[in-house]
Amino acid sequence: MTVDEALRQRISIRAFKPDPVPQELVREVLEVARWSPSGGNVQPWSVIAVAGAERDAVVQLAQATLAANPRGETGDYPIYPADLSADQKARRVELAEEMYRILGIAREDKFGRLGHMARNYQFFGAPVGLFFVIDRTMGHGQWAHMGMFMQSIALAAEVRGLGTCMQEAWAMVRASLGAHFGLGEGQVLYCGMALGWPDREAPVNALRSTRVEVDGFTTWRGF
Ligand SMILES: Cc1cc2nc3c(=O)[nH]c(=O)nc-3n(C[C@H](O)[C@H](O)[C@H](O)COP(=O)(O)O)c2cc1C
Repeated sequence: MTVDEALRQRISIRAFKPDPVPQELVREVLEVARWSPSGGNVQPWSVIAVAGAERDAVVQLAQATLAANPRGETGDYPIYPADLSADQKARRVELAEEMYRILGIAREDKFGRLGHMARNYQFFGAPVGLFFVIDRTMGHGQWAHMGMFMQSIALAAEVRGLGTCMQEAWAMVRASLGAHFGLGEGQVLYCGMALGWPDREAPVNALRSTRVEVDGFTTWRGF
């Protein structure tokens, strides 16, 4: 598979088969992704990989935490800024509407939508979860570099037949997870990622999100 093919083929997988992913395969994905670039070669990322009983423990922790505090624990790092543009808001709505249409969940079925949202906190059934941790001292540049690293993981997984879903949803239980993993005050658990074997039969995995055309985001000068 070429890089182009992996980029075009990768989608967020939101239903996985329960089959385990060997630790060696997860290591192989991380082994490739660690060659991602970062400014000054700072490599501002660290990863907590969970499977088995530890995966189940964080699933339970998230459920208990959100039951007690449905507003969540995003703290200083909200998942979205308050001031998304009209276009950006429209894309969010389009994605959600298309996903719930595919799932057969009606717009007014708040309970159904919440039920699907809650699947985030089970890694959508994936046997492996990755959590991405960054030091609080890091600036916007290093956060961008973390993003490159995460995309590298997603592509390295893709070429091995694995699926991923990046999951900022885990930020909702950031404080509790941080305490569970023994993270210091100086570390932020940014995001999660579900990793496993895609269930290709699941309707939700038929979702294909759209993208703005190149000329919609590129200003050409001097060509
Ligand atoms: C950093 C990041 C966090 C995300 N968090 C979630 C999440 O919590 N739950 C979810 O279902 N999708 C999540 N997504 C997936 C996006 O909705 C998805 O990437 C986007 O709609 C484009 O679709 P595609 O990944 O299928 O191409 C996240 C994506 C990124 C890059």
